[in-house]
Amino acid sequence: MVIGNGDRQPKEGVEMTDVGEVWIVGIGPGDPEYLTVKAMKLIEEADYVAGFKQALKVVENMIKGKALVMDYANEDEVLNFIASQERAGKKCVICCYGDPNFSDKQFVEKIKSMCKNVKVVPGISSVQVACAEAGLAMEESLFITFHKSGSIDEEKEELLRAVKEGRRSVIVLPRPWDFMPKDIARFLIDNGVSKDLEVMVFENLTLRGERAYVCKLSDLLSAEHGDLSIVILRGASRLNDVVLLNGSLRTRHANEMS
Ligand SMILES: C[S@@+](CC[C@H](N)C(=O)[O-])C[C@H]1O[C@@H](n2cnc3c(N)ncnc32)[C@H](O)[C@@H]1O
Repeated sequence: MVIGNGDRQPKEGVEMTDVGEVWIVGIGPGDPEYLTVKAMKLIEEADYVAGFKQALKVVENMIKGKALVMDYANEDEVLNFIASQERAGKKCVICCYGDPNFSDKQFVEKIKSMCKNVKVVPGISSVQVACAEAGLAMEESLFITFHKSGSIDEEKEELLRAVKEGRRSVIVLPRPWDFMPKDIARFLIDNGVSKDLEVMVFENLTLRGERAYVCKLSDLLSAEHGDLSIVILRGASRLNDVVLLNGSLRTRHANEMS
């Protein structure tokens, strides 16, 4: 049995020379300076480079093959094409924002179900950038993503349990279409969490329009945020002391929020 990426090991019945390759490549949080050398090399060498518009923009200067712009409407069509090109022996890259192992599970599973020879290449996640800014160690935190399709009831339960327990800081990715920071705050407050709980919000990390601030949970109730947002709910284990976000923390309250 092959575990992990199964590097250089063909899947049963498939000769490596007969099939192409599909690489799911993490391209970092948006600023091209966070791209890895490995990612750049794979993108440069690929016959096809697919990805959502925002992701392709990060790597557009490196693409020597053909770029395939994906959106929610043509996702299946593009992935079917990639699968056919893999069978034709081509090298294909599918770009993922950040790291494919952070909140891209459904996308990765879909690609793996359609293509044969799939390898995942890690990138720097927006979550890692948020941790660096917050001075938060991964081992002192819990990561929960709501950015998935289908039910989020279990994730909500887990969030509530972890916040009430209060030991670990909880890093949360909102769901852009129906569970944004204000909905997260409403859900927690309605379920008995203190309005005064301290939270950190990070938006557009490494990109133009980047902002980071600390506020109370209740301040989020009336605040609007863009799709690229991360919320960290403060736990007791490490973050009781004042956190300086790489020396540049701006504390903003609800009346200052745009
Ligand atoms: C489908 S998830 C993919 C996460 C990605 N795999 C990663 O490692 O960053 C998309 C969510 O990640 C978060 N995100 C991605 N890039 C971000 C950035 N530059 N700044 C803040 N949040 C970001 C947002 O919560 C966004 O809705």
